[in-house]
Amino acid sequence: MFFVDISAAAMDHRLWTVDLKNKPMHNLLKGKRGIIFGALDENSIAWKVALKAHEEGATFVLSNAPVALRFGKINELAELTGSQVIAADATSMEDLENLVTQSITILGGKLDFVLHSIGMSLNVRKGKEYHELNYDFYQKTLDISALSFHKVLQVCHKNDALNEWASVVALTYIAAQRAFPGYNDMADAKALLESIARSYGYHYGFEKKVRINTISQSPTHTTAGSGVKGFDGFFTYADKISPLGNASAEDCANFVVVMFSDFTRMVTMQNLYHDGGFSTTGVSQRLMDGLE
Ligand SMILES: NC(=O)c1ccc[n+]([C@@H]2O[C@H](COP(=O)([O-])OP(=O)(O)OC[C@H]3O[C@@H](n4cnc5c(N)ncnc54)[C@H](O)[C@@H]3O)[C@@H](O)[C@H]2O)c1
Repeated sequence: MFFVDISAAAMDHRLWTVDLKNKPMHNLLKGKRGIIFGALDENSIAWKVALKAHEEGATFVLSNAPVALRFGKINELAELTGSQVIAADATSMEDLENLVTQSITILGGKLDFVLHSIGMSLNVRKGKEYHELNYDFYQKTLDISALSFHKVLQVCHKNDALNEWASVVALTYIAAQRAFPGYNDMADAKALLESIARSYGYHYGFEKKVRINTISQSPTHTTAGSGVKGFDGFFTYADKISPLGNASAEDCANFVVVMFSDFTRMVTMQNLYHDGGFSTTGVSQRLMDGLE
């Protein structure tokens, strides 16, 4: 690795580093500390975010549900990024309290970023249709995929765990705004998740200048994504409609890192589409060509 000093040209006298494969690194997160939830395996969006955040100079704790720690590969990621792993069921206030307080000790100070990359629906897993939902499963979906975001924020808030200008991001999907039948009760959970970002963003913003956003990502081949009925169909459909094509997990990680950086300090309470233009395209010629 070699260093190129561009301090004369750069506004903030930052050092830009370039590795030998010519991969630019900008130290966007140098000195920043955080928690990354939801890295299960190398396909997980959170996994890519962790790699990218590490590359950009951040230190963080990785967390996932105890069962995911047993079956997933999070320890490999911890080794790659020099991170510690702390198990937490994101629906348990006790687990979250322990995670947040331990993370501050391990990382040596309050946090600058949190990624909520958590989603699960037993109705989806068990193939229940939206008009025949199991309500126990439905409540679990909402608790795991949406309320957990409120819980993470409330635990951080009560413990004064976030520095001023800290950035919190949760991942969501456009089924919160439009009907996608196979997405099932997850659509309702995402609508709630996005609302929590706005509502908590108001309170935390006034009080601590903490910013809270959701990123609405394209369909992505991951364990959670591929579990949705008809996933391959709507992956292809979205890809054909979007002028830029579907955004990959790596692209998403780049965007998340920018949202954690100081370059997006004034962005809060937004649902940000990261979807290659899907959300604002009605239909594309390439899709119609296949239909006519
Ligand atoms: N894959 C897609 O197509 C897509 C598109 C838009 C948004 N998203 C969202 O991105 C996020 C990450 O999903 P992914 O696609 O990387 O899949 P993934 O399966 O790799 O990640 C989901 C994670 O949620 C974790 N989780 C489940 N229950 C939990 C609990 N009780 N406590 C803590 N963690 C728990 C899982 O262990 C897993 O690590 C989710 O919010 C998902 O809805 C995914």
